[in-house]
Amino acid sequence: MADLEGSVVAKDYGIGRAQKTPGFHIKGAGQLDYGMRHRLSRIFREDGKTVMLAFDHGYFQGPTSGLERVDLSIVPLAPYADALMATRGIIRSVVPASNNNALVLRASGGPSILKDLSNERLAMDIEDAVRIDAAAVAVQVFIGGEHETQSIQNLTTMVDEGLRVGIPVLGVTAVGKELVRDSRYLGLSTRIIAELGAQLVKTYFCEEGFEEVTAGCPVPIIMAGGKKLPVTDALTMAHKAMDQGAAGVDMGRNIFQRQSPEAMIRAVNAVVHAGAPPAEAEKIYRDLSGGAQD
Ligand code: R5P
Repeated sequence: MADLEGSVVAKDYGIGRAQKTPGFHIKGAGQLDYGMRHRLSRIFREDGKTVMLAFDHGYFQGPTSGLERVDLSIVPLAPYADALMATRGIIRSVVPASNNNALVLRASGGPSILKDLSNERLAMDIEDAVRIDAAAVAVQVFIGGEHETQSIQNLTTMVDEGLRVGIPVLGVTAVGKELVRDSRYLGLSTRIIAELGAQLVKTYFCEEGFEEVTAGCPVPIIMAGGKKLPVTDALTMAHKAMDQGAAGVDMGRNIFQRQSPEAMIRAVNAVVHAGAPPAEAEKIYRDLSGGAQD
């Protein structure tokens, strides 16, 4: 069995040498079956990047600020998102079936904010993801959490089911209050998730060593948004993540809790798809919002 030292001293990430993906534009996906590639192509544009809008928060915390009425706050933003990350309940009840966004369905859940969040189980069947026409399903993984093994089993079960029907799995790194979001922890979590079969991974940004996190993960990493930050900080974080190898962002509160969510998602698009520097993206936000101050 490998010893822990190999992980402690890992350092040759080949920074600057992109991983080759023969025959396809999405990292690590060149050898997947047609259906998987077709679905991933709905999430990631031809530039291999994605703006995913996350509004699945209600599955464990109820009517979150900004999501009280998803029909009013989120549906108008859909044209600016490549992919929507949500629960099947909200998709079926609120999101128009005529929308052409890629749908990333939350597939794990169980505990509310009143309980231990790591005690999740799978919360939907892969057949339902097929019925809904999901481009991917999302499973939370709690590395270092109380129910780590159970959450890993949720992931691997869904990976097996996804491979059966051609639906990719987004493994989501969940960071508990007691765990530090540094590159060592995020590198550990994202690599485990990819090794166990997820075709894409969502994780937080870290100021030090994020480039090593993305380099050490053989599938696309999508940066998680987190709690609302000042607009300059949120756009800077997105820009740094993209610059350091992320394949996109999956942002929720930093978009829908803004004074102008539409201006923000358009600014985020400029960062992700046009490589806009933070100052330019912030100007887009200020101009389109008519001078919002948040
Ligand atoms: C966490 O990964 C969950 O899926 C969240 O409900 C959501 O995606 C978080 O989005 P944000 O932190 O950007 O508000």
